[in-house]
Amino acid sequence: MSNDPVVAIVGVTGAVGAEFIATMDKRNFRVGKLKALASARSAGQTVNFRGEQVVIEELTPHSFHGVDIALFSAGGSISKKYAPIAVKSGAVVVDNSSAFRMDPDVPLVIPEINAGRIRDHKGIIANPNCSAITALVPLWPIHRQNRIKRMIISTYQAASGAGAAAMEELRESTRANLEGRPFTPKVIPLPYAFNVFSHNTAIDPATGYNDEETKVIKETRKIFEDEKIAIGVTCVRVPVLRAHCEAITFECERPISEDEVRAILSKAPGVRIVDDRAKNYFPMPIDASGQDDVLVGRIRKDLSDPTGHSIAMFVSADQLLKGAALNAVQIAELLPQRAMA
Ligand code: A2P
Repeated sequence: MSNDPVVAIVGVTGAVGAEFIATMDKRNFRVGKLKALASARSAGQTVNFRGEQVVIEELTPHSFHGVDIALFSAGGSISKKYAPIAVKSGAVVVDNSSAFRMDPDVPLVIPEINAGRIRDHKGIIANPNCSAITALVPLWPIHRQNRIKRMIISTYQAASGAGAAAMEELRESTRANLEGRPFTPKVIPLPYAFNVFSHNTAIDPATGYNDEETKVIKETRKIFEDEKIAIGVTCVRVPVLRAHCEAITFECERPISEDEVRAILSKAPGVRIVDDRAKNYFPMPIDASGQDDVLVGRIRKDLSDPTGHSIAMFVSADQLLKGAALNAVQIAELLPQRAMA
């Protein structure tokens, strides 16, 4: 692979697409040429990349000629259709959708956890679900030292996970609500302003779990390579623009103390401890927005487990960065080195 790869962004006008561009720029990711791809609706518009106006092209089966790396974030159906075409054209795809995550031939990678799996790719590498990434970055270094056998996660998810239009809908519905105007939602069919609701993905009537919850369970087991890990999860959307929060309680195989967890997390890559009991200051989406790290706080003994095997904590991470674009660009950064290794 060239040191100055031709990079295509599929979904360049979306919430994650914009962060792909900003993240590549911020991290000095070497790009020979950028191909900006979106739907016919956006073709002819431009995006700014490193001071140059790049014209957006309509995504077609011919878009990937000469492309080395393709970053996809335009939804699962677009990935399913076009990622194999991109691979056939010689590109390596880093896909932010859920289309290929559970495919046994596709590595599901969080670089802080399993960067080595990138080597196994057959053209597509999947970026995990944002709620999974947010939980697993801090849980992994603990799991490595004292296996986590059970975890319970409750999410407080931002609008950004549903895309740029959902973020706009949150802004618009909040304005309408404050001004006493009626508002008809178009993206998420529930009142978003000043409200909290169960995650908007499809719910399985048999199990009562929604797709987001199922993704967290399955993806955690795949990334940790631990099929036995017991996971309970409740995914909820809150009226926050772009960073997710999660309350996490986990039980380890051996006893574990708050101090041990703090010591492990203080050295963990991609984690920043924000845990000020004196000031009652803990991770918040406002602080996590625009940040690369997963913020971790409220680290405390889980009082419901008197055996001392369990810890509770509260985390927040930027869904568009570590939950999506940053993780994908980190994967892409490892590609040329892997190819040469
Ligand atoms: P467009 O703006 O042209 O519709 P988000 O995740 O923020 O909702 O963004 C979705 C992204 O996926 C946008 O960049 C959108 O482009 C792109 N997209 C949606 N449908 C298609 C399509 N049929 N072909 C290519 N890109 C698409």
